[in-house]
Amino acid sequence: MELKVLKSSKDIADLVSNEFINLIKEKPNAVIGLATGSTPIETYEAIINKAKKEMIDFSSIQSFNLDEYLNNQDFSQSYRYFMDSHLFDYINIKKENTHFPSEENYKNYDDEIKKAGGIDIQLLGIGANGHIGFNEPGTSFDSKTHITQLKEKTIHDNARFFKDISLVPTSAVSMGINTILNSKRIILIALGKNKAQAIYDTFNKYDVSCPASSLSKHNNVTIYCDEEAASLLKKELVHE
Ligand code: PGA
Repeated sequence: MELKVLKSSKDIADLVSNEFINLIKEKPNAVIGLATGSTPIETYEAIINKAKKEMIDFSSIQSFNLDEYLNNQDFSQSYRYFMDSHLFDYINIKKENTHFPSEENYKNYDDEIKKAGGIDIQLLGIGANGHIGFNEPGTSFDSKTHITQLKEKTIHDNARFFKDISLVPTSAVSMGINTILNSKRIILIALGKNKAQAIYDTFNKYDVSCPASSLSKHNNVTIYCDEEAASLLKKELVHE
């Protein structure tokens, strides 16, 4: 795994958005894997700005999102709504080419990704407990897209987006770890002190207790951290 530590989240968003823009220029029918949460928002803003400036054409792009809540009472908290309002509504991607796992399609989701040609770049955040997508600690590294129960820690972390913690859905459907590892390239972004232990574990374990540690067996992963997220890693690992 390649580690890049940058001074600001803006610098990270700039580099990561360039990768997506360059991919789409080179491969207009690329397949991109997308994530929700606060971490990728600046990257999506940068993609929107560059797409406008450079007239980037997303009309043949397919996207597959990592995960979606189940039994969610509030559409404005759904990941579909998040993606529409942070990215899709501002680029010319066709909504029918934007895919989310659901209770109905999850058994076929891995096959749909394969049929589309496989994910060229998968973007990931990381949970404070090391989760990727909603693959909570304990999830098998061989897992495919599946239904999962959220851990207390994740429900608590996500409560900041809801009026009340009782409204946070307790189950979700998520790409599995194996689904993620089948991507050709993976970019993980970690921002803030709250992620420092998870990033430490990602580089120092290979164990289901830290789902992100599964990435160490993939040969094309870059982990972008700000200084706080990288703060527990030894200095010799950290290259600017
Ligand atoms: P965050 O979530 O970007 O809102 O911190 C990341 C995650 O839980 O994967």
